[in-house]
Amino acid sequence: MQFSVTTGSSASEATGCVILPLFEDGPLPAATQAVDESCGGILSRLVDVGDASGKPGRTLLLPGLEGVGAERVLLTGCGKQDGFDAKALNRAVAAAAQALGQTGVEDAASYLSQAGIAGADAYYAARITVAAASGAAYRFDELKSNAPKDGKLGAFAIAAASGDAPEAERGTIHGQAISVGVGIARDLGNRPANVCTPSHLADEACRLADRYEHVETEILDEEDMQRLKMGALLSVTDGAEEPARLILMQYNGADSDSAPVAICGKGITFDTGGISIKPSAKMDEMKFDMCGAASVLGTMAALGELQPRINVVGVVPACENMPGGRATRPGDIVTSMSGKTVEVLNTDAEGRLILCDALTYAARYEPRCLLDVATLTGACVVAVGHLYTGLFSNDENLAGDLLAAGKRSLDPAWQLPVDDEYGEGLRSNFADFANIGGRYAGASIGAQFLSRFVDGTPWAHLDIAGAAWHPSGKRKGATGRPVPMLVDFLLNLQ
Ligand code: BES
Ligand code: MN
Ligand code: ZN
Repeated sequence: MQFSVTTGSSASEATGCVILPLFEDGPLPAATQAVDESCGGILSRLVDVGDASGKPGRTLLLPGLEGVGAERVLLTGCGKQDGFDAKALNRAVAAAAQALGQTGVEDAASYLSQAGIAGADAYYAARITVAAASGAAYRFDELKSNAPKDGKLGAFAIAAASGDAPEAERGTIHGQAISVGVGIARDLGNRPANVCTPSHLADEACRLADRYEHVETEILDEEDMQRLKMGALLSVTDGAEEPARLILMQYNGADSDSAPVAICGKGITFDTGGISIKPSAKMDEMKFDMCGAASVLGTMAALGELQPRINVVGVVPACENMPGGRATRPGDIVTSMSGKTVEVLNTDAEGRLILCDALTYAARYEPRCLLDVATLTGACVVAVGHLYTGLFSNDENLAGDLLAAGKRSLDPAWQLPVDDEYGEGLRSNFADFANIGGRYAGASIGAQFLSRFVDGTPWAHLDIAGAAWHPSGKRKGATGRPVPMLVDFLLNLQ
């Protein structure tokens, strides 16, 4: 979809459809009022008789109103005037884009962000509008032989007051870049494990390096990993026929002496659990176990689009977790790249094994801060569901910055504890420590395990086991999170 900013008035804008806000209470918003006046009060009459509703998510399409520049009007419910914030705007835009996706409308102009949004300026209002409209238009039908072609909406304008136009313009550009990144992360997440293999992730990372000037990609194979003594990572891929890859990406937007942000992303392209095999119900969901990796690629793409003056490195360990004659057994002891030994008491706690070597490797870049993104624990889904990313950090400033970035981009995280005490259960009689540790607070135990591989570097672990995908129904699929949070965080570092 093509996005732009318009400073035209709602009544005279020449477009396929003007998208107008309608609240459950109070008078008509100015943009809606202006159209109402030009068409002789039809809109207010529809509200009076109850045909049009301001309830969140409701829409009403009206064609051919006389005196109005647009071919159609889409009244869009925005809820209570008082509570109209960024989240409500997001919901209203998504509802409008969804409704127009079922019509022949080819171009539209949205006046929803002009209804006075609490806590969002013209920049954020435009950014959120773009992200919501492209998110609603997203389809994953590359593997359907006869995909329905729904909707023709190809151009989407965002209305702004002329004084706000430059900021709205900037928000539109950022929103588009974020949407490119989210789209890549969603596609990779939605692809099944027989398509999205470690080599496929590596190929896609190389494609991004071809596409974007300041992005570089290097791929290491299992021999390289052996040379690097990544015994923890390699122990996870032992049962798999599919070869593992370590994907190294760099976005170079600043001088080479400027310390980068390093982001490690869990790239388990399928998690059977290994010898500690998972129950078969819903095991298909474990194709999403590479969504951390996908978010690193998506974030790199967004940076490639926007070219901010920062340096970012991505370290993506990618492999399958399979049972097999050569698979790691419970009780096996592996030596990580750091030299620390780990007793693998459960082969299903594999994410921390591939990430600990990725974190050790990332230290080579002497990063200013170190992030990891992983669908790490079912316990995180139990704690915060699919609404929040679980955030764990050894640095309160870094945690605060990430929480704020998540809030601004409607991609929220919730901070959970990672105290040393959570590591007590990892004690092992046979190795430095084990890879599992007790029944309760599983997300914090996983985070505690990872914290042992970051030394003093400011570090944050993002557990996206819930946030990265919707579990069921029509929305089942990858969300592209936490690309919006990461991009917002990185743009604010410049
Ligand atoms: N990939 C899973 C975590 C997961 C579970 C992600 C559900 C998304 C939805 C991870 O590798 C795993 O299996 N974790 C185990 C850890 C346990 C053995 C300590 C878990 O959460 O059960
Ligand atoms: Mn697992
Ligand atoms: Zn896993």
